[in-house]
Amino acid sequence: MILDGKAVSEKRLELLKEQIEESGLYPRLATIIVGEDPASKLYVRMKHRACERVGIGSIAIELPEDASTKQVLEAVRRLNNDPDINGILVQLPLPPQVETGSVINAIAPEKDVDGFHPCNLGRLLAGDPIFAPCTPQGIMTILEEYRIPIQGQQAVVVGRSIDVGRPMAILLLNADATVTICHSKTRDLEDEMRGADILVSAVGRLGFVRPDMVKAGATVIDVGINYDEEGKLHGDVDFEAVRERAGAITPVPGGVGPMTIAMLMENTFRAARLAACYNNTVL
Ligand SMILES: NC(=O)c1ccc[n+]([C@@H]2O[C@H](COP(=O)([O-])OP(=O)(O)OC[C@H]3O[C@@H](n4cnc5c(N)ncnc54)[C@H](OP(=O)(O)O)[C@@H]3O)[C@@H](O)[C@H]2O)c1
Repeated sequence: MILDGKAVSEKRLELLKEQIEESGLYPRLATIIVGEDPASKLYVRMKHRACERVGIGSIAIELPEDASTKQVLEAVRRLNNDPDINGILVQLPLPPQVETGSVINAIAPEKDVDGFHPCNLGRLLAGDPIFAPCTPQGIMTILEEYRIPIQGQQAVVVGRSIDVGRPMAILLLNADATVTICHSKTRDLEDEMRGADILVSAVGRLGFVRPDMVKAGATVIDVGINYDEEGKLHGDVDFEAVRERAGAITPVPGGVGPMTIAMLMENTFRAARLAACYNNTVL
């Protein structure tokens, strides 16, 4: 079974559009981008397009490549204090002179729609998230949509980054999977992977997952974004070979990627609803 993230994301965005219309709210997202990285600029454009589609207002703050940590923090603080802004997204990676941790920590947790602030990661760890990071949340949504059993399953997450691997493992744990997190220092990595009923690869290496590393019938989730020499997009998984062995698999493109943006839109609407509750404008 091909897990069609594009189709699931379309469905979620349509539903969200209706929910926003019915709510009478006008959620607003602000993005901050530092520098001219073409991939980052493309992602930010896609996020603004998605906003437009579902009825979320959006503004873009563009800072120069040589912006200092202080300049980025000032932009974040302005947005924190702007009552018309519900969500703040700082496009990562930031240039090396900018302290990424300080910037993430400066975002007001109630506007942290990427879910990277320690408060939001802590809530996720405690099993009571408000904003979970969008990529792993999108993966959980695909699994739910296709009714892939999670409870009691052996889940193996390869990768332990703050934005993907760690929150992915916690979301799976919160859904009662038995979770193993693997990384570059894991001993017997292939054996660990072969034990997975649900295998999530968030490594960023072309051809990283081969069929002999996959249990027959497993669900394989490919988070990787890799480009070959001709500039063609691939995931971490050798898709054509692994699909023969897996029970279900996400393609790249059209799998996890579109879900990430849909979850960002949902988080922004959630932030707007929460803000409205705090202001007593919605009961
Ligand atoms: N589709 C989407 O929406 C989306 C969103 C975010 C990211 N991505 C993509 O997902 C991939 C991972 O992103 P990320 O931000 O998590 O990257 P990252 O911060 O570079 O983390 C990569 C992880 O892979 C592990 N790793 C590297 N080589 C390994 C090996 N040989 N064996 C086992 N583990 C290995 C690293 O282990 P160590 O910790 O030990 O170094 C690290 O934990 C990238 O391709 C990224 O572009 C996609």
